[in-house]
Parts: sequence; structure tokens; C-alpha cells
Amino acid sequence: MDKYSRGKATTASEVATLTLPDAKVELPIRIGTENERSVDISELRSESGYITLDEGYGNTGACSSEICFIDGEQGILRYRGYPIEQLAENSRFTEVAWLLISGELPTQSQAADFSALLTEYELLHEGLRHHFEGFPPDAHPMAMLSTMINAASCYHPDLLELTDDDHLMEAAAKLMSKVRTIAAFSYRKSKGQPIVYPDPALSYCRNFLHMMFSIPYAQYEASPTMVRALTLFLLLHAEHEQNCSTSTVRMVGSSGANLFASVAAAVCALWGPLHGGANVEVMRMLEQIQDSGASVREIVDRAKSGDSFRLMGFGHRVYKNFDPRALILKKAADDLFSEMGKADPLLQIAEELEEIALNDEYFIERKLYPNVDFYSGIILRAMGIPRNMFTVMFAIGRMPGWIAHWREQFHAADRIHRPRQLYIGPTKRDYVPMDQRR
Ligand code: ACO
Repeated sequence: MDKYSRGKATTASEVATLTLPDAKVELPIRIGTENERSVDISELRSESGYITLDEGYGNTGACSSEICFIDGEQGILRYRGYPIEQLAENSRFTEVAWLLISGELPTQSQAADFSALLTEYELLHEGLRHHFEGFPPDAHPMAMLSTMINAASCYHPDLLELTDDDHLMEAAAKLMSKVRTIAAFSYRKSKGQPIVYPDPALSYCRNFLHMMFSIPYAQYEASPTMVRALTLFLLLHAEHEQNCSTSTVRMVGSSGANLFASVAAAVCALWGPLHGGANVEVMRMLEQIQDSGASVREIVDRAKSGDSFRLMGFGHRVYKNFDPRALILKKAADDLFSEMGKADPLLQIAEELEEIALNDEYFIERKLYPNVDFYSGIILRAMGIPRNMFTVMFAIGRMPGWIAHWREQFHAADRIHRPRQLYIGPTKRDYVPMDQRR
């Protein structure tokens, strides 16, 4: 791998002037490579005694990063400068993983070496495999995934302190490969079915489907359209800059915690319904529409009525034009269903919902477009992946992005992340002995 070189924001000639009740502070303006502008407040407290307050970090840049660019107004998503549409059209998931982690598209030999590593590492140590026996049958696959990633680190103590980029790429390949096996094994365990070992002759995506759905006496044959849909699902989820789980990787990694521990923490962050669980909510909503017999128009009207009900899979904090990932996944869903020759009634409801909402003034005014979750659940369902595995699938896809951020921070040798707070608790008070408390 090429030696890592870190990009730099440029410093503008103008400065921002902040007028406080008791001081005026000049703050540098830093400009990113896509001309995004930021005010650098890192010296604000030492110069004035003030901190900034931004609950939920909606307007806080926590780092500079070279990995992913998003322009939500224009519906742009690029990994390392490459438009997501071009990567979706031309790339394999493992190629995108290499790009995200290393910074450059792999050469033919780098791609072949990386694939060979992914194959070499796909088996779990027998000791690690026995950990599955300890989980109850109804254990949630996300709990198993996070636990097993940490447990895997116990079997690879040589990867706990990474020395250089080759060593890091070995750890990345082990993590990506084993996570796929762990995910499939946890599904088999939850179904009470025997574990299916990986097949070294198969590609990353095809091998996953094999471990999920083959049975000892019949190999599962995934069609090229199915493999393509899975590739797109993983590739489109591979990276999305400073979201909750990626920020978790950077936060945990900033303490010097190893890659496995940092990624296990990210899996826990992703588990939350406000983050990785949105496509599950979309499926629930579509099923409720189907079961209730309500018309799609009635549901849209309800979402507009101002009560707490929202159309799941619509709107995005960042994308205010369209979510480019949703366009690509919609096409993949259409291809999959036309190949399968049967329409999923939920897809028909989803399409009707999209059609009505996109032409409705309420949604147009508020710039509410279908997001990636709107179609991803339908695709996973068509593959036969159960709902409680949806977030695990997201985690497999996001793995390269998490690793890339861990690596970027590792090389930057940032300080430990330690936000400040505005204290709003009681002021000083004296201890009251227990017999005098009421
Ligand atoms: N259905 C109906 N109305 C909506 C929706 C929706 N899905 N989303 C936003 N609105 C309305 C709000 O009621 C609000 O209306 P108002 O101005 O009349 O009060 C306006 O649009 C702005 O809403 P905000 O909540 O301020 O928008 P924000 O950008 O903060 O929220 C979010 C983005 C959370 C994604 C929101 O659109 C939503 O809840 N969507 C449904 C859940 C969902 O699909 N989540 C997945 C997100 S993608 C991902 O995480 C990978």
C-alpha cells in the first residue's frame, strides 16, 4: 500500500470575528477541498473562556477527513472523490473496501491479493466458533456480532497493536472476512440450523449467501442479479462520513483502543433504531399499510396531518434534494423482482407511496425524498434475509468505512476526543447525613 499522505484544509486570508459581551475573538477560517468553509474554534476557550454549544453535534466538524464527500443539497455522494454512481456501476464491494481503506482504487494485483486475504481468513478459530454455543437461541444477531468481534480479537493478539499499513490491511481483511462468517453463523444459530462453512471458491458476496442459505445436501445457487443486488446494498452502505457509528469508531479509537474494540463499539451504535434500524421501520410501515387495508393516499394524508406519524424512509438530515443511494437501490429492486417473476406486494405499496409523496406539495416544500432505507429493506426481504438481520447487513457493508476512519485517525495521531459541556446541575451544596434527609 502506498504511504499514507494526509490532505490539509487551507486557511483563508480572512478571519471570522466573534463578538462576545466581554471580548472580541478572531477565529481562523479553514476551507476544505470542495470549498466547504469552517470556523476553527479550537483556541476559543483558551483565548476567551467560552466554549461553543451544539447539542447533537449538528453543526460541529469533529475532524478533517479525506474519505467521503456529501453535498446533501445536490444529492452528491463520493467515496475518496469517486461518484457513488460510477462505483455502483463498475465496482465490486471488495474493490470499494480497498479504495475506502487505502485511499486509492486497487491495481489488479492489489485486488487479487486482498481477495486472497479475505478468503484465507474466512474461517473462525474453533475456540471462537464455540462461543456461539453460549448464546440463547433467540439472541439478537447484533448482540452476537458485537460480542464476537471483541472475542475475535482474543484469537489475534498480534493485531491489537498495529505497526504499519500492511499490518493494518491484514487486520482489515481479517475483520471484514470474519464479520461475514460471524453474521451468517449467527443467522444459522438463530434458526437452529447447522453451520455452513465458507467456500473458498466463491466471491465475497456469493460466499455470504452460500453460508446463509446452503444446506448440507444442497448448495444455494444465487443468481447474478441477486449477487449484484447484495453487492450494491453493501457498497452503498460502505461509508457515509461522520454518522453516529463512524463517530463512535473515531471516539473510541481516539483513546488508543484497538481496531476490533472500536468496531465492536460501532456495531452497538448502529444497533439503535434511529441509526441502523430505519429500514426495519420501513418494512413495518409497509406491512401495516397492507394489513390495515388503508389506501396509500390515506397514509400520506396522515403523515401530513401534524400528528407524530411520519412516512418511514422519507427525508434525510443531510440530503435535501434526493438520496443518490435510493435511486440506485430502486433500480436494483426492480431488476431483482423482474428476474424473480413475482412482484412483492410491499414493493407495489412502496412505489405507490413514492409516486404520491413525490407529487405532493407537503413533501416537495419540505424536500422530503425517499432515502436509502426506503428500498433496502425490500431488497433484503427479496433475498430471504430476515428482518432481525437487516442491521447486521448494514454493519457488514459499513465495515470498510469504519476501518478507513480508524486508520485515518491512527495516522493523524489525534488527541483523545473529549468534548466539553455546559453544566446545568446544582451549584455547590453541603453533604447531608442520611438521618437528616427527607
Ligand atoms: N414524513 C412526514 N413528514 C416529515 C418526514 C416524514 N418522513 N420527515 C420530515 N417531515 C416533516 C417534519 O414534520 C417537519 O415538518 P414541519 O416543518 O411542518 O414541522 C419537516 O418535515 C422537517 O422535519 P425535521 O424532523 O426537522 O427534519 P430532519 O432533517 O431533522 O429529519 C429525518 C430527518 C429524521 C430523517 C426525518 O425526515 C424522518 O424522521 N424521516 C423518517 C425516518 C427515516 O426514514 N429515517 C431514516 C433516515 S436515513 C438513515 O438514517 C440512513
